[in-house]
Parts: sequence; C-alpha cells; structure tokens
Amino acid sequence: MKITKICCIGAGYVGGPTMAVIAQKCPDITVTVVDINQARIDAWNGEDLDKLPVYEPGLDKVVAEARGRNLFFSTDVNKAIDEAQMVFISVNTPTKTYGEGKGMAADLKWVELCARQIAAASTSDKIVVEKSTLPVRTAQAVKDILDNTGGGRKFQILSNPEFLAEGTAVEDLLAPDRVLIGGDPGPEGQEAIEALVSVYAAWVPRERILTTNIWSSELSKLTANAFLAQRVSSINAISELCEQTGADVTEVARAIGADSRIGPKFLKASVGFGGSCFQKDILNMVYISRSYGLTEVADYWEQVIKMNDHQKARFAKNIIKSLYNTVNGKKITFLGWAFKKDTNDTRESAAIYVADHLINEQAQITVYDPKVSEEKIYADLEYLNTRSPEEIRRLVKVVYDPYEACLDAHAVAILTEWDEFVDYDWQRIYEAMLKPAKVFDGRNILPHEELRTMASAYSPSERQYSNY
Ligand SMILES: NC(=O)c1ccc[n+]([C@@H]2O[C@H](COP(=O)([O-])OP(=O)(O)OC[C@H]3O[C@@H](n4cnc5c(N)ncnc54)[C@H](O)[C@@H]3O)[C@@H](O)[C@H]2O)c1
Repeated sequence: MKITKICCIGAGYVGGPTMAVIAQKCPDITVTVVDINQARIDAWNGEDLDKLPVYEPGLDKVVAEARGRNLFFSTDVNKAIDEAQMVFISVNTPTKTYGEGKGMAADLKWVELCARQIAAASTSDKIVVEKSTLPVRTAQAVKDILDNTGGGRKFQILSNPEFLAEGTAVEDLLAPDRVLIGGDPGPEGQEAIEALVSVYAAWVPRERILTTNIWSSELSKLTANAFLAQRVSSINAISELCEQTGADVTEVARAIGADSRIGPKFLKASVGFGGSCFQKDILNMVYISRSYGLTEVADYWEQVIKMNDHQKARFAKNIIKSLYNTVNGKKITFLGWAFKKDTNDTRESAAIYVADHLINEQAQITVYDPKVSEEKIYADLEYLNTRSPEEIRRLVKVVYDPYEACLDAHAVAILTEWDEFVDYDWQRIYEAMLKPAKVFDGRNILPHEELRTMASAYSPSERQYSNY
C-alpha cells in the first residue's frame, strides 16, 4: 500500500518536527498536522519562522521548504483524518493529576479522544499510528475503541514511538539511530508495518528500521527513557560522593566513559534531568510494574526519580548554605530556565523546582533565558500551585539581558547549559555582582579555574560546586 496522505493529530514538540521532516523527505506525501489549539496552528502557519511554536535548530528551514507544498497545519481535524490513509496520534500523555494512579500513571484522556474522533471521522479504512509515548498494551484500548465505534471500517494499529531528543530534534529525525515500528503479526498488520516502513525508507537506511510486535515497541520507548534517566541519576549520585571525597565527577565520568561497555554519553553530572518525558515515563513504568505486583521492579526504577528530586533539592540547599544560611531578600540570578539547551521547552525543568525552593526562603530570583518568555516562566511557577501569582511576581523578575540579570546579584546559578553562557564576559559579570560573588554551575559548563583566578573573593568552600 502506497501512502500518499498522512494526518498527524497533535502539533507539539513531536508532531510538528516529525511531520515537517516526513514532508521534507517525502514530497509525494501530503502531510497535514492538526491540533485543537488554534494559537499553535496559527504560529505554525505564521510568516515569521523565528516564531514557530517549537524552537529547534534547523526546524525553520525544514518548515520553509515543505510548508504550503506538501506540509499543512490546520484545526480541521475531522477533514484531515478522513482524507488520510495513515493517522498519527501525537498528543500529550502527561502524568495523571487526579483519581486512580494520580501522580504516577499516564493520563490517556487525549489519546482516547483521538481514537474516538478517528472512528467518528473516518469514511474509509485507516492505519492508526501511536506516535505518543504510551503505556504498554495501550494499543489494545485504541483498537477496542476503533473496532467498536468505527462503523465497520478496518483499522490497523501500529506503534511507532519517537526517540528524538529536544534540542537536536531535526538532526535526530534526519539521521535516527533507529526507527521502531510495532504491529500485529497477522498479514494485515504486516502490510501496515510495510506501508510505514516505506515512508521512513525514503531517507532512513532499511537496517535502521526495526520492526517488532506492538507490545515490544510500546515498552521499548519507556525502557529507553528509563535507561537514559538512570544514567543521569547514577552520575548525579556519584557527584555527591565526589564532593565528600575530593574526587572530581568530570574526571570520574571521563574515566568510566572510556570503557566501551559504558560509553561516554549521558554521563554529565548536573542539577538533574527535566523535560516532559523522563519523569513521566518512569513513573508510568513504576505504576505499570506495581499494577502487575512487581514491587522490586517498581522500587528499582522509582529510585531514579528520587535521586533526581534529591539532586534538585541539594542544589538549592547548597546555594542557601553557601549564602550564610539565608537567602531572604538576596538577589539570585538564574541563567537558563529551559530544561536543556537549544529548546524553548520548560516542562519539568530543574529551574522550576530550584526556584520554588529558593522562593520558599524569600529569595529574589531574576531569570534570563535566551528562548523562554516571561509569561512561560510565571506560568511554570503558577502551575506548581505553591503560592499566589502576586507573590511569584513579587519574588521573581524576568529580564532579557544577561548582564542586567547579573547586576548586584549575590549569586548566579546556571540552570541550563546554553552555549552562550560560556562565552559571556565573566569578568564583567563578576564586577557587576555583590561580593563575595558566588557562581553555582548546575550544568558544569563554565571554566571554573578561570573564574576562581578572576575572583579573588571566590572562597575555597565554593570548590564543591564545581562538581556539578
Ligand atoms: N517532547 C519530546 O521530546 C518527546 C519525545 C518523544 C516522545 N514524546 C511523546 O510524544 C507525545 C507528544 O509530546 P509533545 O511533547 O509533542 O506534546 P505537546 O503537548 O507539545 O503536543 C501535544 C499537542 O496535542 C494537541 N492535542 C491534544 N489533544 C488533541 C486532540 N484531541 N485533537 C487535536 N490535538 C490535540 C495539544 O493541543 C498539543 O498541541 C507524548 O506522548 C510524549 O510523551 C515526546
């Protein structure tokens, strides 16, 4: 079956870039990305490519090439579903905030709504592709809904989880380590798998396109995120041990990363991982494991989250301790708010939790991030529900100039590893700060020896922070 029309439900961080690359690489396929969020669709259609709703290096060029040719963004969900042979579900699957599984399970409300809408809007058979990250065995629920409400149409369900990393999404999509497609083992399932394989094969070498049964595919995505997050928590646990023993976590990471069995990636100690996926996917795996009575499995993976929470809290506590056990009324500048560099995504960013901790102590936080807006920062803090919007605005200021941000600060904390932070005139920042000037490098990106030499007031007690 040759695919010529694709619909993708969800124009977010995954749906937008993924479909833009499919459209760029497959000019003979019409790709329509739909969303219920009118503002998001307007932004995808906007003239100014600097204002796309998702910031990713290189994405503007891909969109510029394909948009209007064979890539379209629309809010007419039903029309796009009906016209397509293949419908991707790429909607949000956040952690549940209510009821059974609250704080652990994935909320599948939006996925179920999509399934119902696909069933209602389809006047022909469809291949439905799970692009969202879903708990293992979700495909069964999607199939049940489609089979029971789809008016006799035939639906094949595939799982095609997305492994892109924000910040390098375009690069990852253009040259993925692998594409994973899970489907039903019967002949119709295999035909559907082959149809999707043919889409990717336009630019991905066949040997990198893995096909599996649907449950393996669903579980592989959760497992991949759990393993990646586990590495971050592992090196962060070692960073605390380093601070007590005089070892340097960067040197330890280099030494163990040289072992080909371990490898060098994801061994950078930091203030902790963030992003919309790692925490939610592990919590979801913990929840599923518990629901099968696998207590040891659940406890094992839950520890990755506990370590991450500990690292964020520890970073905030170290700032307070170093500022003579009080930050009340002190200006603390955050360089960075996004959960990692090269993205404007702030979901679960460590910065949010460190800020909340410091605001509890009545610190005055000033934030500068090259890609995150003031409204987003306030919205992130309001979402925590820990204090009123008025108090947040009283204690948190957002500025758009890094040097202004650091003026008269007692401390500067690096919360995101943006490249530009390394290139700043740190002598100028040092001179503008109150003394003793303290820098807490939560991403371990600055030249610490240089800073120490520059700042004679840099006390020996700060040495421990170079371990982040
Ligand atoms: N962000 C990542 O790096 C990443 C990577 C891999 C996988 N994922 C997974 O991909 C999925 C989507 O993530 P995201 O970051 O793109 O989320 P997102 O919140 O950025 O985008 C989801 C979009 O879906 C839209 N939507 C929800 N319900 C809808 C409906 N019924 N009809 C039309 N539109 C609807 C929302 O308005 C939103 O714009 C999640 O399951 C996530 O776990 C995310």
